[in-house]
Amino acid sequence: MSRLWEKGLPLDERVLRFTAGEDHVLDARLVSYDVRASIAHAEMLAAQKLLSDEDCAAIRDGLTELEQSFNAGDWQITLENEDVHTALETRLTQKIGDAGGRLHLGRSRNDQVLTALRLYLRDAATDLSTRVSGLRQSTVAIADRQGDVVLPGYTHMQHAMPSTVALWCGGFDEAFADAMAGLKAAGRRIDKNPLGSAAGYGTPGLPLAREHTTRALEFATTQSPVTAAQLSRGKAESGLIFEITLLLQDVGRLAADLLLFYTQEFAFITLAANTTTGSSIMPQKRNPDVLELLRSSSATAQACLDESLMITAKLPSGYQRDLQRLKAPLFRAIDLAVDSVDIMAYVLDGIRFVPENIHLDEGIFATAEAYQLVADEGMPFRDAYRRIARRYAKKN
Ligand code: ARG
Repeated sequence: MSRLWEKGLPLDERVLRFTAGEDHVLDARLVSYDVRASIAHAEMLAAQKLLSDEDCAAIRDGLTELEQSFNAGDWQITLENEDVHTALETRLTQKIGDAGGRLHLGRSRNDQVLTALRLYLRDAATDLSTRVSGLRQSTVAIADRQGDVVLPGYTHMQHAMPSTVALWCGGFDEAFADAMAGLKAAGRRIDKNPLGSAAGYGTPGLPLAREHTTRALEFATTQSPVTAAQLSRGKAESGLIFEITLLLQDVGRLAADLLLFYTQEFAFITLAANTTTGSSIMPQKRNPDVLELLRSSSATAQACLDESLMITAKLPSGYQRDLQRLKAPLFRAIDLAVDSVDIMAYVLDGIRFVPENIHLDEGIFATAEAYQLVADEGMPFRDAYRRIARRYAKKN
């Protein structure tokens, strides 16, 4: 019997294929998290005298070995299994016999998947945050190398006020610091333990100790009442994808600036040769494809956010299979964010500003001149503004 719920009735192959969807592929990244949650669950059962210590030890060792052999590439989750939860329990029972069949007491795949996803999300948010910190280092390194280089500050894409490379970098560095704070804030919805809510209505008559797994899995709180657990699925996901979308918008705006700076007309920067691509027809070309793709990353992230929000939007309470489809946009957004942040840091390390090519429009100092009049003559700012404006009116 391949599936946990099989009762001897045949399942149409097409129904299996449609309902399991991509799970057997996507769930690969949940294996170690499902193992960790399952061990915590078994230890809680043992502490509650619902499982013998010997069975608990066999489960712990069996799952640990399965995790290792999975990571070594010795087995995969198959379509027949449906998902990671079934694959692990089936293999565990083949390995250790009856004890494997005792593990599922007091839980359901509905709270299992929530738990595994939250453990995964916690690591993913921390990992992404570390990578954003690396991106900040690359941003600050530009300022360290060439911070004094003067840049035009633009509004409406017109020279507005004088700026510098340091000031330009500083803005993005602060935006990325905000992104790190946002990723941390996404932890609020991630940090609640759904394990023990089972199918969504608890385990009547069974003396579980949910606080036990909350502590073991290092969650901040136990999610309760049990009916809150399934209502929350998708929200931690959407919260994290939202933060990713904002982060990738800043990455994209940085890319948009650099694309402008790299045009022949601007020529404010050079890019490292190994970060540009070529053309199949024009021999002279060195194209900034990486930056163009980075500019588009937030579009994909936002589509993932939309997909995630739309899946949960009109569901009634309780577990619904629709929720399974949250995984694809979640993983897609996280993978894209990781790749985008890392490659942006790499491209930034190869950027050099070319001061000789950067010229400031004379009018860029107009505001400073008006301020000078205020300081020197005590003139109201509006009068100083008009006097300077008259001078530039002739020139424009
Ligand atoms: N793959 C499923 C999901 O992600 C796991 C839970 C399945 N539960 C069920 N009752 N069919 O939602």
